[in-house]
Amino acid sequence: MMMRSAVAAAVVAVVLAVAVAAEASELKVGYYDKSCPGVENVVKWHVAKALKANRKTGAALVRLIFHDCFVRGCDASVLLDPTPENPAPEKTAPVNIGLAAFELLDEIKSAVEDRCPGTVSCADILIYAARDAGSLMSNGNVHFDAPAGRLDGMHSHAAEAQHDLPDSTFNIGELIQNFKRKNFTIEEMVILSGAHAIGVGHCSSFRARLTAPKEQILPAYRGLLAGKCGAGPDPIVTNNIRDEDPKAIAATVPSFLPKLRKIEFLDNSYYHNNLARIVTFNSDWQLLTEKEARGHVHEYADNGTLWDEDFSDSLLKLSKLPLLPHGSKGEIRKKCRYVNHY
Ligand code: HEM
Ligand SMILES: *[C@@H]1O[C@H](CO)[C@@H](O)[C@H](O)[C@H]1NC(C)=O
Ligand SMILES: *[C@@H]1O[C@H](CO)[C@@H](O)[C@H](O)[C@H]1NC(C)=O
Repeated sequence: MMMRSAVAAAVVAVVLAVAVAAEASELKVGYYDKSCPGVENVVKWHVAKALKANRKTGAALVRLIFHDCFVRGCDASVLLDPTPENPAPEKTAPVNIGLAAFELLDEIKSAVEDRCPGTVSCADILIYAARDAGSLMSNGNVHFDAPAGRLDGMHSHAAEAQHDLPDSTFNIGELIQNFKRKNFTIEEMVILSGAHAIGVGHCSSFRARLTAPKEQILPAYRGLLAGKCGAGPDPIVTNNIRDEDPKAIAATVPSFLPKLRKIEFLDNSYYHNNLARIVTFNSDWQLLTEKEARGHVHEYADNGTLWDEDFSDSLLKLSKLPLLPHGSKGEIRKKCRYVNHY
C-alpha cells in the first residue's frame, strides 16, 4: 500500500512537472485573463501616453521586439543592465546601438507589479508594448493578438547579440543566412525590413553609404545624409526621408517635398523609398540586389494593405521565437533590468 501510493505520488509529480513545462513553453492569447485581468489595457495606456509625448518611442519598441526575440528567443534578455556579475549584457553590443524605450518598460512593469505582483513577465510586457506601438504608429493597420506566457531569461551576453543580429554592413547573402538561422524566409526578411519606415539611425550605422556609388543611393540623398552627418561626431538621422525637415529636403531632394509627412507613420513607404534609392542602411539597399527579395520590394511598394497584413503576421512570428532549449531556466523578473537573484 505504502509502495503503491509512493508510486502514485511519483506519477503525479511527473505529470505535474510535464504540465508545468508545457505551460511554460506554450503561448496563449489572453494568458493573463485570470491571473492579471486588464494587464493588456494597462500596457496599452502607458504606450499611448508615451507616444503622445514622443512618437520616437514607438519605433524604439518595434525595434526591441526584433532585438529581443532574435537573441535567445523572446525572453527580455535585451533589457538586462550591466552588473558586476555580468558586465557585458546584450545591450552593450555594438549591433544594439541606439536601443531605447527602457524607461517606458520600467514604468509599465512597475504599474503591472502594483496590480499583480510577480505575475507578468517582462518578456510578455515587451511584446504587448511593441505590438501596441506598431498598432498606434499605423492607425491600427498593423495589429495582431499577442499570445503570452513567456518567462524572463537569466542570461544576456553582448557576444550572442553580435552573433545573432544582422549588421547593417551585411550583403544580401549574409542577410538571408542570418534570417534563415531563425527560420525566417527571404520574403519575411523583406517584410520586416519595412519597419525602417519609422525611427532613426546613427551616422555610424550607415557611414559607407556616404561614399556609395549612385547606383546604390540617390546622389542628392547622399548629400543630405552627408550634410547631417557632418554636424557632429555621430548624430542621428531620421530613417524615412518623408520625416525629414522641409528645409533640408527643399535644399537637397525637392522632388520629395510633396511626399513629406506631418507625423511619423508605419506604412509601406519604405519600399517606395527603397526603389528610389532613398534609404539609409546598406542592408536596405541590398534587398534590391537579389531577384526574389527585389520582387518582394516591388510587391509591397504596390500594395500597402498587403504589407500591413504580412508585417503583422511576421511580427507575430518573431514574438513566438522560443527560449533556447538548453539551460533556459526562466523566471518572472521583479525589475526588467535585473535577474531576481541579483
Ligand atoms: C534586415 C536586417 C536589419 C538590419 C541590418 C537593421 C539595422 C538597423 C540599424 C543599423 C538601425 C539604426 C540603429 C542606430 O544607429 O541607432 C536600425 C533601426 C531600426 N530598426 Fe532595424 N535592422 C534590420 C531589421 C529590422 C527589423 C526586422 C525590425 C523590426 C521588425 C527593425 C526595426 C528597426 C526600427 C524600428 C529602427 C529605428 C529604431 C529607433 O528609432 O529607435 N529593423 N536598424
Ligand atoms: C527552426 O526550425 C527547425 C526545424 O523545425 C527547429 O528545429 C529549430 O528549432 C527552429 N529554430 C528556431 C530558432 O526556431
Ligand atoms: C492588396 O492586398 C490585399 C490584402 O491581401 C488584397 O485584398 C488586395 O486585393 C490587394 N490589392 C491589389 C490591387 O492587388
